[in-house]
Parts: sequence; structure tokens; C-alpha cells
Amino acid sequence: MGTLWGTILLLCGVVLLRTEGYGAQQIKNNVPRLKLSYKDMLESNNLVTFEGLANSSSYHTFLLDEEKGRLMVGAKDHIFSFNLLNISKDYAQITWPASPSRRDECKWAGKDLSRECSNFIKVLQPFNQTHLYVCGTGAFHPVCAYLEVGRRPEDSVFRLEPHIENGRGKSPYDPKLLTASLLIDNELYSGTSADFMGRDFAIFRTLGKHHPIRTEQHDSRWLNDPRFVSVHLIPESDNPEDDKIYLFFRENAMDGEHAGKATHARIGQLCKNDLGGHRSLVNKWTTFLKARLVCSVPGLNGIDTHFDELQDVFLMSTKDPKNPIIYAVFTTSSNIFKGSAVCLYNMADIRRVFLGPYAHRDGPNYQWVPFQGRVPYPRPGTCPSKTFGGFGTTKDLPDEVITFARSHPAMFNPVYPINHRPIIVKTDVDYQFTQIVVDKVEAEDGQYDVMFIGTDMGTVLKVVSIPRGSWHDLEEVLLEEMTVFREPTAITAMELSTKQQQLYLGSAIGVSQMPLHRCEVYGKACAECCLARDPYCAWDGTECSRYFPMAKRRTRRQDIRNGDPLTQCSDLQHHDELSGQATLLDKIVYGVENSSTFLECSPKSQRALTYWQYQRSTDDRKQEISAEERFIRTDQGLLIRTLSKKDSGIYLCQAVEHGFMQTLLKVTLEVIDTERLEDLLHRDEETAANSPVQDLSSPRETPNHKLWYRDFLSLVNHPTLSSVDEFCEQVWKRERKHRRQKAHLVQQVQIHQQQQQPQKWKHLQERQKGRNRRTHELERAPRSV
Ligand SMILES: *[C@@H]1O[C@H](CO)[C@@H](O)[C@H](O)[C@H]1NC(C)=O
Ligand SMILES: *[C@@H]1O[C@H](CO)[C@@H](O)[C@H](O)[C@H]1NC(C)=O
Ligand SMILES: *[C@@H]1O[C@H](CO)[C@@H](O)[C@H](O)[C@H]1NC(C)=O
Ligand SMILES: *[C@@H]1O[C@H](CO)[C@@H](O)[C@H](O)[C@H]1NC(C)=O
Repeated sequence: MGTLWGTILLLCGVVLLRTEGYGAQQIKNNVPRLKLSYKDMLESNNLVTFEGLANSSSYHTFLLDEEKGRLMVGAKDHIFSFNLLNISKDYAQITWPASPSRRDECKWAGKDLSRECSNFIKVLQPFNQTHLYVCGTGAFHPVCAYLEVGRRPEDSVFRLEPHIENGRGKSPYDPKLLTASLLIDNELYSGTSADFMGRDFAIFRTLGKHHPIRTEQHDSRWLNDPRFVSVHLIPESDNPEDDKIYLFFRENAMDGEHAGKATHARIGQLCKNDLGGHRSLVNKWTTFLKARLVCSVPGLNGIDTHFDELQDVFLMSTKDPKNPIIYAVFTTSSNIFKGSAVCLYNMADIRRVFLGPYAHRDGPNYQWVPFQGRVPYPRPGTCPSKTFGGFGTTKDLPDEVITFARSHPAMFNPVYPINHRPIIVKTDVDYQFTQIVVDKVEAEDGQYDVMFIGTDMGTVLKVVSIPRGSWHDLEEVLLEEMTVFREPTAITAMELSTKQQQLYLGSAIGVSQMPLHRCEVYGKACAECCLARDPYCAWDGTECSRYFPMAKRRTRRQDIRNGDPLTQCSDLQHHDELSGQATLLDKIVYGVENSSTFLECSPKSQRALTYWQYQRSTDDRKQEISAEERFIRTDQGLLIRTLSKKDSGIYLCQAVEHGFMQTLLKVTLEVIDTERLEDLLHRDEETAANSPVQDLSSPRETPNHKLWYRDFLSLVNHPTLSSVDEFCEQVWKRERKHRRQKAHLVQQVQIHQQQQQPQKWKHLQERQKGRNRRTHELERAPRSV
């Protein structure tokens, strides 16, 4: 057994030299505090997946029904109804393919049979108490139908009505194109393309009792190759006659609006009670107006960096239904410069722009200017109602109003975001934002909006905006970055259920579900819970758990705004110590002279910076270990290249985050010279037969520690070193054989290692999982860090 130890010490020392990631630590403001891989998410039971059907794809169209507890998902040739509790448990599916003749026609028209000539579901909207309205591309021949879902959850009806309707103006022909749709009062609003070639884009209103109505055709001032993102109803006053429909889209800038080709993000408005004009603009919108949405950051040389590719919009409701906060996700148009941003808009700014000057130009070669002339009455864009106009319907509008509306669909001024800048910008990463949902979370010190942002790499970022001093100065805290799909794929749909406290995600390859919070992963101490600054979580006296504002207040510890564990947790220190949680893991590590060793210490939080202190003995002064030849500081720990006798002593691993310092680890390193090793090994062989416990370690001031198996474990306990694992597994097998031969010896060893599992390999694995044994010693961080 002694020879074994020697071999382990020497070989593991050598292998450990291959550790990767020696780079210096960088300032970590923009990294997520916690990063969870797909495997981490699955293993910690934080992810439920629906991996998709072999003959389907494109799980892009979501409809959340919290009352019935279902998530409806439209995909290629199928509609699914998932249980919100667990999407993989009991889901129902309907197969709705395109007919063989439609598929043939599609193929003859030159389209790709497998990728394009299927029925891709694009519209999934609630119609009445028992039915949904569904539309799909129908192999380049759009179709719609009613889907019966029952009145109550227990009805468990899920059936497509046999009557199929023409889906033109509701679903696009081309599966690559999106539809933004909203079904309200039996009328379907949809922004889509209405022809086979994908050129005739329009905003339609169909179904219902009125004649279908749309935007002016072939007029690039109205719409210029748009891509629709979403449609919402936002009331303008307490009178429903004033209700407006808002559309979010991106499109090519109008001719003359921008030098060269450019994309602009837009918000468009319509009156819900618009019936079109009487003599002109018949069955066309008469109240359509659009404005540019700006999301930019000031750059060098005064040139702003614009984020113009609007990707997604989320409306966060407030107490006043007329004034939701608009969260919008943008990316850049540039091929060279990849970036994403989130901008916030308020309705007051949007309404001000629609009441401002119209964009006007006198002819094709003129510039766009604010219209200075007399605006006809009633002002174009105003809804016919008793509140403002005093006229009954848009059919009664004077001709001059219609004429003006037709030629002035755009506003001159753009809408700027709240505070005139994005709340989040990401430019230094290899992914882009695609989706956003926001949850309002009640915390001890106020209400916070927590954003869940989907990316094109199958990850979700959880971000909270925290006011620094006022609401005008927000600090963005990236709480978590989670991988929710098995391979990198764009997240294309996202729904949040407050009732279930779950998030649902769609992509080309499947559907995933994850809880909104995982408080337990932040750690086992008050300070860790506090530093996390997650509004969902608070320290409840024994663990980090979900915070409920209604629960007993006294024991809850949370500080989202400052994340200050000193004020929140200092009186808990004693308690922690009593419960044994604060006891510093005091490890002993043995190294062999002229060999190398690795002291592992990686904080759970990716935001924390680690640094190391050295102490010759317990009473000596602590000194910081500076980076030099022999010491390499990595994100995982400290590598000492060539050990010398004078390296023996105490090593303290400190984590500093948000101005607070925690000691994560205390290691006593004992450097054994080669001679003594030989000696020990030799002695061991001699004594092994009759002495059950080898007194390997008696050297110096380590009274209660012997060179145990666990010391060796601590030496090789490193996450990235699979070669060490393999090596040590062999060693362990050998040891097991050895053990069988000397069963009595092993028994004795186990008595001395009371807390250890009999299966030592299992123990090693467990330590690798929960490798950050932490402590909660809090001190003010030194100024220099
Ligand atoms: C796809 O496969 C499922 C079974 O996995 C089947 O129920 C469904 O009808 C198939 N869909 C099509 C369009 O053939
Ligand atoms: C969801 O259901 C699946 C299949 O029944 C089960 O294996 C899994 O543990 C469930 N997950 C959760 C979080 O309930
Ligand atoms: C809902 O609409 C469908 C389709 O028009 C109809 O068959 C059904 O009776 C309606 N249900 C209710 C409750 O009105
Ligand atoms: C360790 O290395 C030094 C310098 O290379 C050498 O002088 C010394 O003898 C070595 N010690 C042992 C025990 O091998």
C-alpha cells in the first residue's frame, strides 16, 4: 500500500501538470454568476425536455393556457398539447399534414419536398371558450381550421374540426417567413405575406363579421419587405372605441430615409374599429401609422451603434392597462459586428411620436422632412369615437383625411428607449439574443423585473435590472446562463407561466421546460444566497429557498439591491457555526519535492475572483501569493510547478465578489522530500502486515492527520482531469485487490475514517460533483483586490 501512495503522489503530480486554462483571471462583470450546462440542468432535475418526433420539427408556435394547464405547440405537420406540470409526461398530438396532391404541386413549383412542402403551423390563437384557430403553410397553400380543446381542463378534448378554410392572409406560404397574429373578438389580425412569391406583405384583419381589410398594396411607404414580430391590443382610453392594435416589425428603410440599404425596427398602430374608407382606401386601413424604434448606444466619433434587427417584444403589464412597459430585443444588421441589445419603451413616448409630425417629402428626389402644413381634421390615426372625433366610422372620414393618410403612413420622429439607451448590450459573445419574457418578482426590498432571454445557441440568460441609485441608473446583473437544448439551436418561442413558475422554450429540434428559479444551487450558506441577488431566492434560516413575500418575514434574508451579506447574514454566523456549516474545510495535501501539485479551489460563482494567501504556520502573518514562475493561478485553483521544502505551510483560497471576501478553502501542504518518501514507503512495507494504520504522516505539526486515501483524493480531485480519473480508477481497482488480501487492515482504516463511505470510488465521484466545499468566513475585502 505504501508503494501505492508513492506512485500516486508522483504520477498524479505529473498528470496534474497538464491542467488547462492557465490564463490570468479577468475582471468578471459581464459573466453569468452561474453557468449551467445541458448536463448540469438535466442532472439537477432543472430541465424537462420533449425531444421532438422523428417526422416533425420547427416547434415555433406557442400558445399558453394557464387555466387549462396546457401548452399548445404548433410544429411541422403536428399540433401538440403539453401538460404544464411536466411536458414529457402526458402530451397529446394531432397530425395535420398537407395532402399528397398539395405536396406534389409544391414540389412541381420547385420547392424542396422535405423542407418546405409540409404543413408548418404558424397561427395558434384562442377563438372561443371551446375552440382555437390554427393555420399552417399547407405546402405553400395556407390552410386554417378550428381546433376543439374543451371548456374545462378535465374535458381533455383535443380534436381538429374537419372543415378546412383558406389560410391566405393568415399564414405565410413560405415556412421560413413568420406571422405575427392576434385573435380578438372573433377577428384575426395578422402581419404576414399573402402570396406564393413572398412579396405581398400586409397587415390583415380577417374572420369576424366585417369584410377583410388590409394595408395598401404595392406601396413601399406603408410596408417595405417587413418581417412581423408581434401584435398586441393596447387600450388608449377607458372607451373601447379608442382601442388600438400595435404591431412590431422590422423592414427595409424607406427610399431616401437612409443612405444605402438598412433595416429599421418599427412600431405600427391601427384602430380596432377601422372599417376602411368609403371612396378610396376601400377595405384598407385608414388609421395605419408607423414609427421607427431606435435602440442604439453612442459610439466613438459620435457615431452611434444601432441595433435595428428587432427580434422579439414582450409587454410587461403595469397597474394601468393603457401603459404596459415594452421590452424589445434587437440584434445588429452588420455581418462583421455581432451584437444584441434589450431596450425598454413606454407608451407615453410612443403616443407622443404618433401625435408628432408626419414624415413628408415632395417627390422621389426630395428629403424626408417633418410635415409643416395643415393636418386635416380629424387627425389621421385617430380612432372614430365619441371621445375624440365625434364621427361614427372610418367610412365617414372626409376625403382629404383619407388622401393624407394614404400618403403619410410614417411619423417623422423615432421612438427612443427609456433613458435613451439599452438596458442590456452584449457584443463580446458568440451568440445573439432571439427571445425575451419578463417576470415581475416581489422581493424583500421591492419589485424586480427578471428577464429571461433566449439565444440562437440554445441558452437562456436570466438577468435582473437593479437600480443603483435611482430608476434611471440600472445595474444589469446576469444571474444565470443555462443551456436548455441538447445541441446549439436558436430559441424561437418562449412562454412563462407564473402559476407554474416554469419557463417553456421552443426550437427547431424540440421543446424544453425549466423552473424560474433554482435557489438551492446558490450554495448552503446565507452569504452565498445573499450574494446571488436573485429576487426569487432568500435565506430562510437553514437554506436558500424560494422567497414568498407573504411568508414570515423575520427569518428571511435577502438583499437584491446591494447583495450585502454582512448586513444580512452576520448575526447568522454563529448559527452557521453551530450547525457545522461554517467550519472551514481543513485539508492536508502531500506533495513530493521537485514534483508539482494542484490546490483546487473554484468558487461556484463565476463572478468571484479568487486569490491565494500563504502562511508558514497558524500564527504567522498571511501573505498574498503573487503570480510568479512557480505559482500558476487558474480559474480552478493554484498550480505549484516544482515543490520545494519551503513551500510547506498553510494555503488559503479566498473568493472576492461584490466587495466581500469568503475563505473557500484552507489547505495545509506538506512537502515530503524524496529521501523521506523512500523511507516512508519502505517502512510502510515493513509495517503493513502487522500495523493496521500506517503512520505515514507523523512528520511535523499535523497531529490529527494521517496520510489517508482522502488526501490522495484531494490531490487528484480535479474536474478537468479525466486522465487522472482513469488512472485513479485503475489504482483503486488495484487497491481493492489489495484490500481483499488484507481485509483486516481495511476494517481498521474504515473505523478511522468514520465519515467516509465504504465505497471509496463513489466517494471520489461525489466529491467531484460537489467539489466546492465552502465556508462562510466573511471579511471585508482588502482594498487592493
Ligand atoms: C409522425 O410519427 C408519429 C408517430 O411517431 C405519427 O403519429 C404521425 O402520424 C406521423 N406524422 C406524419 C405526418 O406522418
Ligand atoms: C417528468 O416526467 C418524466 C416522464 O414521466 C419523468 O421521468 C420526470 O422525472 C418528470 N420530471 C419532473 C421534473 O417531474
Ligand atoms: C366556438 O367556435 C366553433 C367554431 O366556429 C363552434 O363550432 C363552437 O360551437 C363555438 N363554441 C362556443 C362555446 O361558442
Ligand atoms: C530537486 O531539484 C534540485 C534542483 O534541480 C536538485 O538540486 C535537488 O537535488 C532535487 N532534489 C531531489 C530530492 O531530487
